[in-house]
Amino acid sequence: MRIVILTGAGISAESGLGTFRDKDGLWTRYDLNDAATPEGFARNPQLVTDFYNARRANCAAADPNAAHHALARLEAALPGEVMIVTQNVDDLHQRAGSQAVIPMHGALMSALCTGCGHRWPAPVAMALSDLCPACGKARTRPDVVWFGEIPYHMDAIVDAVTDCEIFAAIGTSGQVYPAAGLAAEARRAGAQCVELNLERSEISRAFHERHFGPATLVVPAWVDRLLAQS
Ligand code: APR
Repeated sequence: MRIVILTGAGISAESGLGTFRDKDGLWTRYDLNDAATPEGFARNPQLVTDFYNARRANCAAADPNAAHHALARLEAALPGEVMIVTQNVDDLHQRAGSQAVIPMHGALMSALCTGCGHRWPAPVAMALSDLCPACGKARTRPDVVWFGEIPYHMDAIVDAVTDCEIFAAIGTSGQVYPAAGLAAEARRAGAQCVELNLERSEISRAFHERHFGPATLVVPAWVDRLLAQS
C-alpha cells in the first residue's frame, strides 16, 4: 500500500461531530468508563445504548466535509494505492466515496449481537429489546470497540503501515493505542510520515512533516500537492 492515512475525530470536527479531548469534547461531558467500556455496558446498558443512539443521530445528520472528499479524490486518482485506517466510528469517509477504509474502532451504523456475534445495520435508535436477526435473541450492543477491547483488523493495519511509502495522520491527538503507535511503526519501516492536525499532538515528534490547521484546509492542500507529484 503506497499511502496509509490514519484519521481521528478531528477530521469530522468540521462536519459538526464532536471530538473527544478538545475543549467541550465528548469525554469532558461523559465519563468514558460509563459510556465506552464493557463494564459500563454491563452496569447500565440503557445509558450506553442512549449514548450511542445520540451519536448515531448526529452522524446521520452530518455530511462529509472537504477533508473527507479530498481523501476520496486521492483514492480515485490512485486506485489501489490508498488506504484509510480510521479511529472514527462515523461513516463520513464511506459517504464521501472512500472505498478502502478500515474502521479499527468499529462502526456506529452497525449493531452486534453479544450472543452469536452477528452484525447487522443498526437502526438510528437502537433498543436493548431489538432481536438479533440471526439468533432471535435480544442481546444487542453497538458494534464499536470499547476501551479494554481489541481493535478490529490489526493484522491488516500493521501489514499496511509497515509496507507503505507515505503514512499520514489526520485529526488525532495520538493518545489512544494501538492507533497512536502506528506512526512510529511506519517511520521505523521507512515511510515518509506526515501529520495534518489543528495543533501539535502527543505523537507529533514521530512525523517528518507537520501541517497545522483545520482539516478542511490542510487536507485538500496536501492531496493537491501529492497528486501534483504523482
Ligand atoms: N481539523 C483538524 N484537526 C482537528 C480539528 C479540525 N477542525 N479539530 C480538532 N482537531 C484535532 C485536535 O487538535 C486533536 O488533536 O483532532 C484531535 C482530536 O483528538 P481526540 O479528541 O483525542 O480524538 P482522537 O484522537 O480521534 O481519539 C482517539 O479515543 O476515545 C477514543 O475511540 C475514541 O477513536 C477515539 C480515540
